Amino acid sequence: MTMAPRFRGIEIDGATALALLDWQREMGVDEAILDAPVDRLEAPPPPPVPAAPEPAPALPLGDDVVAAAERLAAQATDLASLAELQRGFDGIELKRGARSFVFADGNPAARLMVIGEAPGEEEDAQGRPFVGRAGQLLDQMLAAIGLSRAAPDPDRAVYIANVLTWRPPANRRPEPQEIAASMPFLARHVELADPEVIVLMGNTPCQAVLGRQGILRLRGQWTEAFGRPALPMVHPAYLLRNPAAKREAWADLLDLSARLGL
Ligand code: URA
Repeated sequence: MTMAPRFRGIEIDGATALALLDWQREMGVDEAILDAPVDRLEAPPPPPVPAAPEPAPALPLGDDVVAAAERLAAQATDLASLAELQRGFDGIELKRGARSFVFADGNPAARLMVIGEAPGEEEDAQGRPFVGRAGQLLDQMLAAIGLSRAAPDPDRAVYIANVLTWRPPANRRPEPQEIAASMPFLARHVELADPEVIVLMGNTPCQAVLGRQGILRLRGQWTEAFGRPALPMVHPAYLLRNPAAKREAWADLLDLSARLGL
């Protein structure tokens, strides 16, 4: 249905409406104004309230979390399926606050696997382990003995992961229950990547994997982790704060290089 044009409530014909419009344009009218005044000072209507989010499912507690992690990790048949299973696991509260799931980087066929602590801010932003300042130093250290995460040759390559795949808030130390719930995944990760040699980078992986702390005493002493030779080393973040410790780190790198027959 077409409505007849109206002017101040009076019905008018089309020709009159056009003439009125022309006259208004001549008079400088450049804006259409409503019949009823609008009070611009009136508070705007409140924005629509978004629907309440679904309540998060309750996390299983304690041993149940670890048992659930063990069951999931055991289902993984390769690294890709492990990553998907671990990403979907809700037993670690950190997942809710982190931006990225940080699984691994480098060449999974590498003979050497480096295990660090947890993603930091840069790793959380990029979704890759060891890409911040400490990661850059790690790359330089590895390059000094001819290793690189980008190398296609397993002899020259490095594969890198962390005990935790989610960033702890403000980079705080991982809590024991976060480590416990991550360990079944890390154990399966090592099993599937099957490295010949492992480097445990810093106190957290030593505590998580060996059950021992005191990296300044442990460093440089070959031990066994996940049934393979493992070398505890001082974390590159520590080396950034304590450059004098680079001398021992260099000795450890040479030892690692010799073990790999480089
Ligand atoms: N420190 C770690 O232990 N891991 C990272 O990925 C980054 C910093």
